Amino acid sequence: MHMHKLEKIWLIFGVSMLGVFLLVLGIGAFALGAQPPGDHDHGHHREVVNPETVEQTAPFNDLGLKKIGDNEYDAYMLAFAFGYGPENMEIPAGATVHFHITSKDVVHGFQIPGTNVNMMVVPGEVNHLTYKFTKPGEYLVLCNEYCGAAHEMMQTRILVK
Ligand code: CUA
Repeated sequence: MHMHKLEKIWLIFGVSMLGVFLLVLGIGAFALGAQPPGDHDHGHHREVVNPETVEQTAPFNDLGLKKIGDNEYDAYMLAFAFGYGPENMEIPAGATVHFHITSKDVVHGFQIPGTNVNMMVVPGEVNHLTYKFTKPGEYLVLCNEYCGAAHEMMQTRILVK
């Protein structure tokens, strides 16, 4: 097959760019792999939980708010296809809430539009985020990770009053 000179140059250019890309990727992966274990999440310990038994395992066998201080709460939540537990959570206005959330099936999202609450919910791991609910009202919780057929419908509401 006859190949135009310019085409040949572009082909060589393309192949060498791919080579550079793969090299960078390889070095990046190596650098990540060489990190000491436990240092990936900047000092926070990684909390693991078995997604198959999480519903029977404390504290996720008793979902919802647990008072831990002066208007300060732990909120234990569970994500699943396609919803969140507990169903109706009420938070006192002004409360500082430490969310602890995990998934019992696939990867989900946990996002409260209008706030900076946005995290990934991974089966086998407990994710944490703290938020102070200064404004009363109804807060929508959305799943922003594609998780299956009813992903678009996956949501719940938190009432702050
Ligand atoms: Cu859960 Cu999308």
